[in-house]
Amino acid sequence: MLSVKGLTKIYGKDFRAVDDISFEVLPGQIAGFVGENGAGKTTAIKMMTGVLMPDAGEITIDGYSRTENPLEAKLRMAYVPDNPDMFLRLKGSEFLSLMADIYRVDEKVRPARIDRLATRFGIRDALPLTMSDYSHGMRQKIMIVAALLHEPPVWILDEPMTGLDPSSAYELKQMMKEHAAKGNCVFFSTHVLEVAEELCDVIFLIRKGRMIFNGSLEELKRLHPHMTLEEIFIEMNGKGHEGKQIVTDPSSQGAEL
Ligand SMILES: Nc1ncnc2c1ncn2[C@@H]1O[C@H](COP(=O)(O)OP(=O)(O)OP(=O)(O)O)[C@@H](O)[C@H]1O
Ligand SMILES: [Mg+2]
Repeated sequence: MLSVKGLTKIYGKDFRAVDDISFEVLPGQIAGFVGENGAGKTTAIKMMTGVLMPDAGEITIDGYSRTENPLEAKLRMAYVPDNPDMFLRLKGSEFLSLMADIYRVDEKVRPARIDRLATRFGIRDALPLTMSDYSHGMRQKIMIVAALLHEPPVWILDEPMTGLDPSSAYELKQMMKEHAAKGNCVFFSTHVLEVAEELCDVIFLIRKGRMIFNGSLEELKRLHPHMTLEEIFIEMNGKGHEGKQIVTDPSSQGAEL
């Protein structure tokens, strides 16, 4: 449902911010993208969502190639960026109308959808206000509402829980589970390993632009018995793992090289 092959981004002469990353997220799956600050998560996500041009690689969203059918691909995905500070001069309601126009949401279904999502995230009363007056968490919530308005099958979320209060984080997690349970897919980056542990069917660990693990949490734990996810993460990002790749081929998931 979401397929990435050989994705690469080079900055400057030869700094590979994202280096030959490949993975697949199947219908019904929630995938977690985990890695240290600067590992390349946002760069990869920006290429997947069309914000950045890749230097190499192919991206397919719900069967549509990002390069050959960019519009169709875009209509089939929700993108929540890592930074919600945009369109600050608009009122919340104006921003949602703009996004609904861009993503071609039928005017007949708009009010009910906006009402349902804004109520679920507790920002309904803030919609008449200008977004510059929103708190960080409120901006984050309206970005999520805006991204979901056209009800796309593929969700791509860059650190979506950051700044959310516990009830909104809970709502979002529930929504991610419900979305996947309907046969759709969710791909999200996070630093919160407990969230990854709770939600993810598959984990992609990225380090210095390279994929160092691609598989299920059970497989990761089997490779590192008696360790918590936090301990595994720290060990895999430590010196002992310099350049070491665990799995990149989905057909051999779980096998340590
Ligand atoms: N426009 C740019 N020009 C040069 N280097 C860049 C640019 N954007 C990002 N980078 C570099 O690419 C690397 C990956 O950055 P990226 O933002 O993708 O990391 P990240 O995994 O999302 O980190 P974080 O967890 O802090 O959000 C970093 O070393 C960063 O400095
Ligand atoms: Mg980032």
